[in-house]
Amino acid sequence: MIEIRPIAGDDELAAALDLRERVFCGEQGVSLDADRDGLDDAAVQLVARDDAGVLGTCRVLLDGELARFGRLCVAPGARRRGLAARLLAAAEDAARAAGATRMRLHAQTAALSLYERAGFQAGGAPFDEEGIEHLAMEKRLA
Ligand SMILES: CC(C)(COP(=O)(O)OP(=O)(O)OC[C@H]1O[C@@H](n2cnc3c(N)ncnc32)[C@H](O)[C@@H]1OP(=O)(O)O)[C@@H](O)C(=O)NCCC(=O)NCCS
Repeated sequence: MIEIRPIAGDDELAAALDLRERVFCGEQGVSLDADRDGLDDAAVQLVARDDAGVLGTCRVLLDGELARFGRLCVAPGARRRGLAARLLAAAEDAARAAGATRMRLHAQTAALSLYERAGFQAGGAPFDEEGIEHLAMEKRLA
């Protein structure tokens, strides 16, 4: 069974960071420095996992009424089973519970439909982040 929940302990955080490194750095060519931006300790970190280990992760940075969502990734062998959508929904729940009224994110253009299906709206022109085209998106949580 796959569960989605906040990270429990340092080992799980290390496994989530390792997955991020494999996906963002290994698959997508992002530098490790860019991924490890120093904000992880301040974030709510979530994982999707089964008995064997971490299959997906994301994080939310809380700033009053604004929640910033990011670092969403799913292990290649676990994709297209709805884990990213479930992680996003769990992150929205965590942000709402902390008092946030809106959530922002930078979507890789290729992943736009995932966020649109969850009710996020894109605004502004596409921009480059780490060599990957992104769009700013936002959703009201309240
Ligand atoms: C994007 C990603 C998180 C999706 O994870 P997932 O668990 O497969 O997502 P879900 O099963 O909930 O939803 C799949 C949807 O993601 C969307 N998707 C968008 N871009 C995708 C991409 N490059 N690869 C795969 N799926 C993508 C599709 O709309 C897909 O829907 P479909 O199956 O109906 O076509 C995963 O492919 C991944 O880790 N990719 C590399 C890292 C990344 O791009 N992260 C997003 C940063 S904004």
